[in-house]
Order: sequence, then structure tokens, then C-alpha cells
Amino acid sequence: MNAPIELPGVWAEVGQSHPHESAILHVLGSATYADDVTELHGTLHAALGLSQQAHASFTQIDLAAVRASAGVVAVFTAADIAGVNDCGPILHDDPVFADGLVQYVGQPLFVVVADTHDNARRAARLAQVDYTVLPAHLTAASAHAAKSYVLPPMRLQRGDFQRKFAAAPHHATGTLSVGGQEQFYLEGQIAYAIPKENRAMLVLCSTQHPSEMQHVVAHVLGLQSHHVTVECRRMGGGFGGKESQSALWAAAAALSAAALQRPVKLRADRDDDMLVTGKRHCFDYDYAVGYDDDGRIVAAKVEMVLRAGYSADLSGPVATRAICHVDNAYYLSDVDLSAVCAKTNTQSNTAFRGFGGPQGALAIEYAIDEIARTLGRDALDIRRLNFYGDSGRDTTPYGQQLDDNVIHALVAELDDSSQYRQRRVAVNAFNASSPLLKKGLAITPVKFGIAFNVNHLNQAGALVHVYVDGSVLVNHGGTEMGQGIHTKVMQVVAQELGIALAHVRVTATDTSKIANTSATAASTGADLNGKAAQDAARQIRDRLATFAAGQYGVPASEVRFADGRVLVAGQSLAFADVVAKAYLARVQLWSDGFYATPGLHWDAASMTGHPFSYYAYGAAVSEVLVDTLTGEWKLLRADALYDAGQSLNPAIDIGQVEGAFIQGMGWLTTEELCWNKDGKLTTHAPSTYKIPTVSDCPEDFRVKLFTNRNVSDSIHRSKAVGEPPLLLPFSVFFAIRDAVSSVGGHRIHPPLHAPATSEEILNAIEAVQLAAGAV
Ligand code: MTE
Ligand code: HPA
Ligand code: MOS
Repeated sequence: MNAPIELPGVWAEVGQSHPHESAILHVLGSATYADDVTELHGTLHAALGLSQQAHASFTQIDLAAVRASAGVVAVFTAADIAGVNDCGPILHDDPVFADGLVQYVGQPLFVVVADTHDNARRAARLAQVDYTVLPAHLTAASAHAAKSYVLPPMRLQRGDFQRKFAAAPHHATGTLSVGGQEQFYLEGQIAYAIPKENRAMLVLCSTQHPSEMQHVVAHVLGLQSHHVTVECRRMGGGFGGKESQSALWAAAAALSAAALQRPVKLRADRDDDMLVTGKRHCFDYDYAVGYDDDGRIVAAKVEMVLRAGYSADLSGPVATRAICHVDNAYYLSDVDLSAVCAKTNTQSNTAFRGFGGPQGALAIEYAIDEIARTLGRDALDIRRLNFYGDSGRDTTPYGQQLDDNVIHALVAELDDSSQYRQRRVAVNAFNASSPLLKKGLAITPVKFGIAFNVNHLNQAGALVHVYVDGSVLVNHGGTEMGQGIHTKVMQVVAQELGIALAHVRVTATDTSKIANTSATAASTGADLNGKAAQDAARQIRDRLATFAAGQYGVPASEVRFADGRVLVAGQSLAFADVVAKAYLARVQLWSDGFYATPGLHWDAASMTGHPFSYYAYGAAVSEVLVDTLTGEWKLLRADALYDAGQSLNPAIDIGQVEGAFIQGMGWLTTEELCWNKDGKLTTHAPSTYKIPTVSDCPEDFRVKLFTNRNVSDSIHRSKAVGEPPLLLPFSVFFAIRDAVSSVGGHRIHPPLHAPATSEEILNAIEAVQLAAGAV
């Protein structure tokens, strides 16, 4: 009786390169960030008073001059905290305000609230503190030597490293140090706290983790979570720096607002932001790798010392991820991998794009680079030889079996498309005839595990409202930091309901809408919240299908939603018309949705299990030109190939790969954190801390997505893209090392550490020249 339904052939909202939902607003300057929200009448402004000592006890803070300063309304210290003086995410070793003990230069002692931002900042500097100076550990090495740690050590062993290493015909051993990195989000930390009736508090906060902010604010104020609402429409970047460390700012603003019963805004000045907040962990490594005559690794030991800073923050999960990424794309049969989190009198280091993964993987790449040089082989051949492979060579040191390995095909494609082999010959020819300018070339792979390595965080919720006019409002637990999560979630909902993206809108992340959310982190934002939103949208669609099918007496399974139409019983009805009719028939047109990633488990004691839902893969080739007289260098060309599975939005994913590549390049080359002998961070502004700019981007930058489909049942078989491409610029670092190594005829391993600043490059060149001369 019913004609078969004609499905529109190629209709799809997912998989399309839609612009970022706020792209036009960004360009017009009309996208509202926390500081752009029109201030309420009576709003006050806050600033933090910071410790001038790296480690000292104190009994008293003399605040007389602060209180007397122009425009000051109030000052609050640890003594004024009604609830708990703590904003630590896991352990409770992070006071909001130092209480009798300061542990780094820049640690907040008090908050001063004034009529203007400038008056608050001026007053904050006027406190007198009677410090009794204590000995400080300013480097991870010094803390490690004193066995001063924020957490117990971690170790993952498989097989018999000792025996395999001893029996190996060749050994690559050495040390490496890799610097930290400032997140340098363009919008600094900010919280705007607005008291509401009956003790409630609304906090507009630039944060990746609204639920955690809610939790911390409630604790600090001595309230229940239901008193506190945290909202975030968007961040001007987070990069991990607003996963836990937005808490201090939220807490300080909220406690001021609660005490004064007036709205209080706390916006960090850039220098304060850099002095107060933690960064990517710098790592010191000791490595020992045994390998055979072909370059195949038979044993690997990597000991890592992380600079945790004064408190634990997220250092535990960061160290865990580092250990779980030492293997990168390589099968390591017999390993001894360990990490300690050194307690230093510096900022408490925290999440930063990659979350320890980049630091873990860099160590094995460094060793492989040396294996290739020792054997006189191209590093690509050694990398390939060691890639994960078929059964027997497909299980990670922590016991997860790879069922989605595409590294061979991906690297083969990149090898071809980048003309790596031909360019290697050309680079050698160039170097033979160029005594001072030297070229370098490198290709490096990436394998990155996707999921929070803390199991319970792998869950998400969403709320989808379909209004009577057929328009759709979506709310989910993820936060927008520029990465495009809202655009992707909108696409998922549009796809599910068969409507155009223009009819879907995402609203600010809000703890009063979705409860108990995880941080938008671990690259899982779109994976988790996309699935939750799909679940919600699907429930509404199913109800609409049942309703429409009932009208025509056909099975609900025959109803289709596509192209803004509902196809039923040979009829094509406008989506909005079906919605309007369903409303009159009292069909529920909104739904919640939930998702919890299946199949994950992890045993922290043995460091084994199945911590990742799947792996994302990638590879990049970089070619650099190094001036051996000045250490200056230029990235001539970069080719990157990234596995985003069936990409939800190729344009956004390519943007993520490009951004992560340049950000990772900055970490490994120009971005250098320096502390002076008193423990003060001296690189606390863009004048002294060099992030990449547009002129550092390669003129020839070829970024492609690898054709693939997630083996795992991820959202539309896509793969995460936020963090893994940060490892692609390993190729830049090793291209620089290659160029430096050419100075010694590729016989000496350049002792190049990261960041490979011009100074570091010159030192490495000198070391190679000295060693080459001595041979
Ligand atoms: N992209 C932009 N533009 N800004 C950011 O702050 N953060 C990165 C990445 N890409 C970031 C970004 C980090 S650290 C993570 S974990 C992911 O985005 C988080 O978003 P997702 O899980 O939705 O990809
Ligand atoms: N990434 C980011 N944040 C986290 C993680 C992770 O893997 N695990 C716990 N918090
Ligand atoms: Mo990203 S470091 O997991 O916020």
C-alpha cells in the first residue's frame, strides 16, 4: 500500500565542513566572553596578593596599606573562608589562600576587592608579610635528590628488561630534558561571581570544568552544590590550563561576592596569570634502550622525573598518561617505565594539551633517533621496523591490545605524498655544498590513546529541546574553548533529527542544566557529549516517528528524517509541521541524553588494563633550515597526515591539527620557562616568553586527514582530534637535530634538549663540532 520511501541521496550534516558556530561572531568581535558580559550595577573588581617567597612560613600579613589604598572595599584572607580553604582537584593540598606557609613565588595570600580593576591591582602589591624563609627546591632534580614528591612513584614493568638489555648487541643510553609550557590562552583566567537570593551564587567562569568549579565554590563558601551555578558560554582558549586551575579564581571571586553580597569580577592580568597558574610539566629522563643489529628495540627503560610544582593537582594522571605513551607507535616487549612527581617550590603544574602523552612519547623518539644514527640508517626505517604489528607485536606495555592500528598505511601514504625519500637525497646534497646553512628532515609518527585515564570521568549528559516551531536548543556538558565542540554537537543533533544546522543552537554550558559533568578534556569532549546529545535527540526522534507512524498506520521503523522532512507512508512532511502536530497531541518534545564509554578498565597498582577507547594515529614530515652561526632556524615545509576517523567536520579538524602542530612546535623550540635564583618565574609575559606567531608557521604547510573509520563505536565513527596532533611537531624537533647532526657528518648524537631555542641549538652544534674534531 505504501510506496517505498525515497531517501535523499547524500543528505548529511555530519561529515561536512561547516564553519565554527561562532566564527562570524569571533570575526565581528560580538562573541561574548566572560569579561564582555554587561556588568551588573554595583559590580566590584578583585585582584590577588601574591607571595614574594618560594618557601617561607609567616604568622602575619600586614594589610593596613592595602586597606588604605584608593578604592579598596575589602580584603579577604584564609581566615575569611567560611568553608574549606582548598581548591585542589584530587588531593587536598591546594589552599585558595596560603595559610601560614607559602610554597612558591606567586602563591595567592589574599584577595583585595576595589571599585576598579586597576585600584585592586595597585592595592594588592602593598601588603607586608613577615616571612621566615625556608629552604626551597627550585628544580625537579633537586627535589628528586631529596626524595621530595607530591605522590608515590609509579612504575610499569613488563617482561624482563634487565636480562634483555644485558643480552642486546647495542645500547642507546642517555639523558634528556624537556621544558614545560605556558598554556597562553588568549583570554586569561576570569570569574564573575553574582550573589543570588537565599545564599545562592552564580559564577560566570572561563573554565573547562564547570561542575568542578561548582563543587569547589560550594566547599569554599560552606554551601551545598545546589546553591551554586556555574556558567561558561565559551573560553578564549583553555588548553588544559582551565581544567582544574580556574578553581582558584572562581573561589576567590565567589567568596568575595558572598561576603560583600555584591557582584565581584576577578580577571587575571597576564603576568599574574602566568605567575600564579601551573603549566605543562617539564620532564627529565634517563633512558636505556637495547636493540639488535637491524635496529629493533628489545628492551627499554625510561625513568621520568616530572616537575609537579608545590601540589599534586593533576600530576598523577599526567604521569600515568606519560607512562602509557612512552611506547608511542612502537611495540616494546620488555620495559621498565617509571615516573616520579617532584615537589618543587614553583607553580603547581597541570593539564596541557596532550596531558603527559607528548612528554612520554618524546623519550622513545629520542632514543630511536640515536639508534638510526648509530646504525647509519634512515630513522624512518628504524621507526617502521619498530611499529606495532600483527599478533605478538600488538599489545601495549600496559596490556591493551591494538585492534585499530593504521600506522603502517598512514606512514606509507605520508612517505609517498611528502616525497620524503627524494627530499632526503636533496637535503644531503644541499648540506654537502652549504657549509653554514644546514637542512634537516624528519618524519615522526603518533599513536595517542583516547579516554580519560580516570575511568569514571568517561561520561556525559545532554539536554535537547525541540520547540513547537521546529527549532532546536541543545545543552550539553562540554565547554567551548575554540575547538568547535558546539558545532560538532549541533551537527550530530541536526543529523539525528534530519534538519539543517541552521535550526539548531547550542547554549552556554551550565551546571543547572547538566549535572556532574566531566572536564572538557582528554580530547573526549565531542566523543562523549556528541553521544549524549545523539541519545537525547534520538529519543525525541523516536517519539516523533511513533506519532507520525500512528497517523498513517505504518510501523514507526519506516519513518525517515532527512533534509528537513519527515518521510512517512510515501508522504514528505515538513519537520516543523510534524513537530507542531505532535505538540498538540501532547508528545514530549524534549529529552535528556546520557553516555558512558563502554569497555574501559584500569588497575592503577599494576598499571595495566584497557584505559583507552581507541587510538588516534598520525604522522608528520618537517624540513628545516638551520643557521649554524646563530642557531636561528626556519621551518621550510611541514606535511601532516592525521587520522580523525570519519571526521565529523573536516574543516574544524584540519584547524585543530594545524593549531596543535604550531603549539607543539612552540613547546619544543621557542617557549622557554625560566625561574631566577629566588624562584621567581622571569618569563611571565609575551615580552620574555616566545610563543609561535604567524611568521613562524611554515609557508608550505600541507595538512590532510587520513581516510579511515573508527573501529570503535564512537560518534559517527569519528576520532578525537584535540590533543594528539600536538605530537606531530616532534618532526620539527628531530629535523633540527638532524640538521645539527649533519655538522658532525651524522656520526655524533647532538645533545639537543627541548626547547631547542637558538641558544640550545648553538650549544648542541658546538658539542657536535668538539666531539667530531676529537674523533
Ligand atoms: N583548541 C582550541 N582552539 N582551544 C583550546 O583551548 N584545547 C585543546 C584541544 N583543542 C583547545 C583546543 C585541549 S587541551 C583539549 S583536551 C581539547 O581541545 C578539548 O576539546 P575536545 O575534547 O572537544 O576536542
Ligand atoms: N586528560 C585530561 N584530564 C584528565 C585525564 C586525561 O587523560 N585524566 C584525568 N583527568
Ligand atoms: Mo586537555 S590537556 O585534556 O584540557
